[in-house]
Amino acid sequence: MQADWDARAKENARYYVQTAQENWSDNDFFASGEQTVREEILTDMINICQGRVPKEMRVLEIGCGAGRVTRALANLFGEVHAVDVSGEMIRMAEAALATHPNAHVYQNNGMDLSVLPESRNGSFDFAFSTIVFQHIPSREVIETYVREVGRLLRPGALFKFQVQGDASLATAPDDTWLGVPFSDEQAVEMAERCGFEPRHRIGAGEQYFWLWFFKR
Ligand SMILES: C[S@@+](CC[C@H](N)C(=O)[O-])C[C@H]1O[C@@H](n2cnc3c(N)ncnc32)[C@H](O)[C@@H]1O
Repeated sequence: MQADWDARAKENARYYVQTAQENWSDNDFFASGEQTVREEILTDMINICQGRVPKEMRVLEIGCGAGRVTRALANLFGEVHAVDVSGEMIRMAEAALATHPNAHVYQNNGMDLSVLPESRNGSFDFAFSTIVFQHIPSREVIETYVREVGRLLRPGALFKFQVQGDASLATAPDDTWLGVPFSDEQAVEMAERCGFEPRHRIGAGEQYFWLWFFKR
């Protein structure tokens, strides 16, 4: 996964992060991250903040890419910590976030969140991931991430993320573009195994299958 995403980052990072455009300007690229936050976060503040003040919240993002959404999250929340398997993507995210001292990015191993040590357990108020797990070809890796997010979130907090829900799309174990699909039943079972309540699910059977997992 690291080699494939480093290669994509070197070829055209912003295109592979968000395929809506091949030649993103800075303005349009970061505006698209703000749009994601408007659509997926600002419409959902009751589930996400649960009465907390955003500027007092610590947020985790998985698969930050070139910092498109991370920057918008850092404009809204007090502290953002974001991981990505690709060192090339992380280098670009660091540049994008140079003006945001409340954002911290880490290259991780593509499998777990050990880059955030046990001293961080239970210290995050919200976790988010968009257009990342839909690229991961292994159900085991995705489940490990869910379990790890559970380690880092405080009880009751939300992990809002997206998996690939369309079982008709062909996948191969080494395909890092088209990830492994989850049925609604498989998503619910994963939540239960990892200590989450799968309270809301939208898009089962579709490419963008959104999940709202609340830590028990
Ligand atoms: C399509 S991009 C989306 C980036 C970002 N979420 C956004 O919306 O702008 C997918 C990102 O996920 C990262 N990624 C893919 N597999 C990963 C894994 N197993 N662990 C962590 N990051 C991964 C890639 O390096 C890439 O930066």
